[in-house]
Amino acid sequence: MVDAIPQPLRVTAPGTGSFELGPRTRLAAHDGTERTERWLRATLGAATGLPLPPAHGPGGDVIRLSVDPAVTEDLGAEGYRLAVMPTGVHVVGGGPAGLFWGAQTLRQLLGPDAFRRAPLPDRTWRLPLIQVEDAPRFPWRGLMLDVARHFMPKDGVLRYLDLMAAHKLNVLHFHLTDDQGWRLEIKRYPRLTEVGSWRARTKFGHRASPLWEEKPHGGHYTHDDIREIVAYAAERHITVVPEIDVPGHSQAAIAAYPELGNTDVIDTTSLAVWDNWGISPNVLAPTDNTLRFYEGVLEEVLDLFPSEFVHVGGDECPKDQWRQSPTAQARIGELGLADEDALQSWFIGHFDTWLSARGRRLVGWDEILEGGLAPGATVSSWRGYAGGIAAARAGHDVVMCPEQQVYLDHRQADGADEPVPIGYVRTLEDVYRFEPVPPRLTEEQAGHVLGTQANVWTEVMEDQARVDYQAFPRLAAFAEVAWSALPAPAERDFAGFEHRMASHYRRLDALGVAYRPPTGPRPWQQRPGVLGRPIDGPPPDR
Ligand code: ACM
Repeated sequence: MVDAIPQPLRVTAPGTGSFELGPRTRLAAHDGTERTERWLRATLGAATGLPLPPAHGPGGDVIRLSVDPAVTEDLGAEGYRLAVMPTGVHVVGGGPAGLFWGAQTLRQLLGPDAFRRAPLPDRTWRLPLIQVEDAPRFPWRGLMLDVARHFMPKDGVLRYLDLMAAHKLNVLHFHLTDDQGWRLEIKRYPRLTEVGSWRARTKFGHRASPLWEEKPHGGHYTHDDIREIVAYAAERHITVVPEIDVPGHSQAAIAAYPELGNTDVIDTTSLAVWDNWGISPNVLAPTDNTLRFYEGVLEEVLDLFPSEFVHVGGDECPKDQWRQSPTAQARIGELGLADEDALQSWFIGHFDTWLSARGRRLVGWDEILEGGLAPGATVSSWRGYAGGIAAARAGHDVVMCPEQQVYLDHRQADGADEPVPIGYVRTLEDVYRFEPVPPRLTEEQAGHVLGTQANVWTEVMEDQARVDYQAFPRLAAFAEVAWSALPAPAERDFAGFEHRMASHYRRLDALGVAYRPPTGPRPWQQRPGVLGRPIDGPPPDR
């Protein structure tokens, strides 16, 4: 009867009957409900054409919004109760966020056309009499968007925030810098975007592909763009966690400011923003100059992003240049470090201390465990579960995002039709059966798993339609894993999920999402002849 995605904790239907929204339906909003009131009036108002004026005083035909500490006690600040009665609807959040998630459920109950932006003729907006009690399993329900490899213009990011909200996802991990592009205006270092935000051409397909897109690619967000994105996210109870990737994945920054690179190993003035895919050997020099430069970058980042967490990358930093660099070797000697891994650990540790002193928390990819984990660090576990397990056992917080399970750049079916196939086959069902908390953790250690996120790397996603194709429908399955209290993977009712997906595809259609249809890619979603990087055989770490 209720085909909501993600699946709510408890649903009861107290009787037959319904409540119908109409031109006289009013919105009664109490303290702490302002954001949801604005969102409901704007979103449902657009879809239905109903004015939903404010309600003053008692009476029926009302959608009532409130927050209640009693609900917080039962269901947490992100939990909510939703009741549809013959006289109206009451949505009660544990806190403002819970109320907002309740409003998202209400939109789903109204049917797919509630996801449109203008009313269709002759629609009725009837809700079944129902009671919902709901709360998320994890506080970190994330999507990582790589806007460095291919830039996503601001309106696309705002659209993704809406798509996240519709799926009750609440963390946008914003991968802003990489070898192939620097996407964030930094006022004190203008060359980061003047030089670093565009490349002359782009490899079309993965590394082995002989094809090039022989045209410039670029773009960046101004401070005002970021303020708009962050505020738009906050209005939807989504936190934007910025990522500035150091000390690897930094070739775009080095192309802009050659002194950031290992100048005693290579001529860094000859480097350009990278036009190919893979792991660049050109990494930051571990010098005081580099530290001061990135403190300057992070000062502007902290100014723009209120998020408690700031991601500093730390992944895939080849150490060859540090091994060859007299400057890097001298630093290892001065600091009495064991090796280059310890040097990276020292580098990350510097920013852990720096961020902690400013009331923030560092998060990094699981390579930051190598050479020793900084005391305040949280780990994004991407190379399987192992990094996350080690970090949780050491008492550190963890976000589980193993590439074998939730890297949405990986192909979603076998077969020659999948566009630019990457990695393992990870189907909708595979994602639905992903379990973020490994059974090897004790209950206390499992408490360090803040949650999970799906990662969208965009090397072979040149535009929004390609991102949609890779992200959907799997992001819907992921959202249910992150939110709902599902049983163990083997016992999950995938058939039931697929059944609910029938409605959800219609919601995605109304939202204009270019998802992969269950029958396979549409002709224009294919990329015949463009090489990917498929990996054959069963995925490891299952
Ligand atoms: C990563 O996929 N390099 C975090």
